[in-house]
Amino acid sequence: MCGIVGYIGKRQAAPILIEGLHRLEYRGYDSAGIAVGNKGRLKVAKRKGRVRELEALEPQKFRGVQGIAHTRWATHGEPSDLNAHPHSDTSGRYAVVHNGIVENAAALKAQLGQRGVVFRSETDTEVLAHLIALLDDGSPLETVVAEALRRVVGAYGLAVIDAERPDTLVVARNGSPIVLGIGDKEMFFASDPAALVRHTASVVHLDDGEIATVRADGYETRTLDGAATIKTPSTIPWKDEAFDKGQFTHFMRKEIGEQADAVRRTLSGRLDTRFHTTHLGGIELEARDLLDIRRVKILGCGAAYLSGRVGAHLIEQLARIPADAEPASEFRYRNAVIERDTLYIAVSQSGETFDTLAAVQEIKRKGGRIMGVVNVVGSTIARECGRGVYLHAGPEVAVVSTKTFTCTAVALALLAIHLGRLRDLSVANGARLVAALQALPDRIAGILEREPEIAKLAGRFQGVEHAFYVGRAAGHAIASEGALKLKEISYLHAEAYPASELKHGPLALIEPGTPTVIVLPRDDLYSKSLSTVEEIRARGGPVIAITHPGERPAVDGLFEVPALEPELDPLLLNIPLQLLAYHVALQRGTDIDQPRNLAKSVTVE
Ligand code: F6R
Repeated sequence: MCGIVGYIGKRQAAPILIEGLHRLEYRGYDSAGIAVGNKGRLKVAKRKGRVRELEALEPQKFRGVQGIAHTRWATHGEPSDLNAHPHSDTSGRYAVVHNGIVENAAALKAQLGQRGVVFRSETDTEVLAHLIALLDDGSPLETVVAEALRRVVGAYGLAVIDAERPDTLVVARNGSPIVLGIGDKEMFFASDPAALVRHTASVVHLDDGEIATVRADGYETRTLDGAATIKTPSTIPWKDEAFDKGQFTHFMRKEIGEQADAVRRTLSGRLDTRFHTTHLGGIELEARDLLDIRRVKILGCGAAYLSGRVGAHLIEQLARIPADAEPASEFRYRNAVIERDTLYIAVSQSGETFDTLAAVQEIKRKGGRIMGVVNVVGSTIARECGRGVYLHAGPEVAVVSTKTFTCTAVALALLAIHLGRLRDLSVANGARLVAALQALPDRIAGILEREPEIAKLAGRFQGVEHAFYVGRAAGHAIASEGALKLKEISYLHAEAYPASELKHGPLALIEPGTPTVIVLPRDDLYSKSLSTVEEIRARGGPVIAITHPGERPAVDGLFEVPALEPELDPLLLNIPLQLLAYHVALQRGTDIDQPRNLAKSVTVE
């Protein structure tokens, strides 16, 4: 998705902005650009393709201590040099970078066209630059920008530079994040804290409807109507090194390998071996409130939703509260019934996914009780929910989720035990599950050490174009996540089905060239799943099983995961599937960290 970075201070802006753009690359983009102000003029460079292609235009040499830059993920108009941001007015005095969509761009374009404005790009953003130029009556820049934004319908995070106001940049937010970074006599801003951590840990998150004037020596925030707002800086908990690949070829592989430590952090301080339960301080709901809950509904998108399905299963099994998960992107549009005794949980790694945020806002509007399970501290969904559980998984840079899928499922397991121990989950079962969670990080580390076994299994996908993933109950959610990982990074067609559903249709597609990966824990459904294996193999379909040690099932390839406790086994069964997808993609030579067409955090509808 699009990214914004800005700088004003005492240093040359261009190198800082280019480095910031590199930090934003992980989000996925198709073009990049930069504008730097100096002596009443703007220097602008923009180009389709990667930041290194922009660097070939040598914008690093632009002189000036004030600038804005952007990575674009096309919405209005194809990826091209012309459509890349920044966009300028006709005179080239003002430049704008923008994340989001101006919904009334066509109407504004028509009005501006009548006043003689000629548009150079196909973007909605260009209207903002012309509008600001036309409205500038010499008032402070923030007043002019606010006046322009009052005419805009849509979502934006945006930044504006005016060559003739060299001491000021203006940023504004409505639906797309902007974070200010406070330095020493210099200020930074970005749409993602990842672009700031190298320079400062002290940040201020803008809220929707806020506009900020940013100068080298500080910032002021106000609403679009001009009322001053008061912000309290917070600290980004991430170290700059976390954004380096280190010895790894891919961030995805690095992040898969970090899972034991990431899970340790998710669990840290939350296990109670005295009462054999868990503590989740951030949910800010008393035991009495939690006892009133009659249903749990988990909402998220993509891998977050699938992790929510694992969590819903755990909550239903351990707390005996009816629970389910639903894609937030569907929920937000279906005028859902919101119940006062339902606990709604929004799940999001980035905390910025637009559909999940919209679902949260819909639930709040209807008076529902919501909490978040989020990785990025201070992100929009975390702040909108106001309470919840942070994963503390550390930054996830690869576009596909791995460690945050696992940590989200672990956080929901903590919640399931907590809710269970308030109800019927016995002391003995609480103790058994808490002990299993304590053992989880070491078990994950043990699986990761056996990566060569999985790399060998990946060899079975050579020449394959389609694959099935099946499982039962939580195993189906794990299978779905395995299939999602495979299709995202290897571009193989992978379908996930409940194992029980195979014979109701998809079995017609089973043939010798189509492998099926089965999630096969030795639980009380094991013998049923073995029948599925036989049905597939009888039709010539090769089967790869992710299973537990014991008498080996008749399959074509197999990886044994150590058994933990039956309820928590799904948390481990997921790890080999991540490695499997990684190694298949490695063989196929795809762009693993930035798969085609995908973005790390989907901040538009
Ligand atoms: C899949 C993946 C995406 C995200 C989804 C939600 O590997 O990464 O499906 O899970 O876009 O993102 P967050 O969790 O940031 O809300």
